[in-house]
Amino acid sequence: MRKALVVGNWKMNGVRSDATDLAAAIKTGFEDNGAEIAVCVPSVYFSEIGSLLAGSSILLGSQNVAEHDSGAYTGEISAKMLNDFNCHFAIVGHSERRSYYNDSNESVARRYNQSLSQGITPILCVGETLEQRESNETFTVIDQQLDAVIDLAGIESFAKAVIAYEPVWAIGTGKVATDDQAQEVHAYIRNKLAQLDAGIAENMQILYGGSVKPGNATALFAMPDIDGGLIGGASLDGDAFLSIYQSTK
Ligand code: PGA
Repeated sequence: MRKALVVGNWKMNGVRSDATDLAAAIKTGFEDNGAEIAVCVPSVYFSEIGSLLAGSSILLGSQNVAEHDSGAYTGEISAKMLNDFNCHFAIVGHSERRSYYNDSNESVARRYNQSLSQGITPILCVGETLEQRESNETFTVIDQQLDAVIDLAGIESFAKAVIAYEPVWAIGTGKVATDDQAQEVHAYIRNKLAQLDAGIAENMQILYGGSVKPGNATALFAMPDIDGGLIGGASLDGDAFLSIYQSTK
């Protein structure tokens, strides 16, 4: 049986005191319901937040990882560095990375591989833009995003990964996908993986992301192929984030 997972993506928000206050609030208010929970924090705070969360079940994650092992790549953070801070997860292919920093499908696949090479679970983000949805390209786009990773890393790698379906038009816009819209794509992803490996598909945690809030999380997480969420804006409020966590089935 798949465990539910709720991951906060803090993005580039706040300063040091905001980060420590938020982590402390989440740690204090956390009540374990059997689902998994993680926060992907700005990398400059890994050390401090890691120490603060030590001994709790709240896992630490990164918002990105370099596509190379090491070397002259100014500004990048390697998977080995993430490992130094006990990062459990690394988000790869977030739509903001794909659109603002030109992370291509192939680059995302290399980041995914780097993450796995250090035993860090990649959270592979996929999702279509509004334009692509309106021109009926949703499944083609999802196929391309997944195929690049399957081609490089193999289907068996998905046993140690998480997928997040995040329709770009729903991220930070307040426009959440309907439960049925999200379920349709989640089922599509699971069926696609099942054609390659039924066991891996069955165990795959597929998260929904895009304007998840305490008010819509329960209905989304109740859908059969939605195994939790990747939460942006609402993860910056400790109470809202914990309420979303408690919406897991
Ligand atoms: P949002 O962001 O919850 O603010 O829409 C989701 C994400 O970017 O992962």
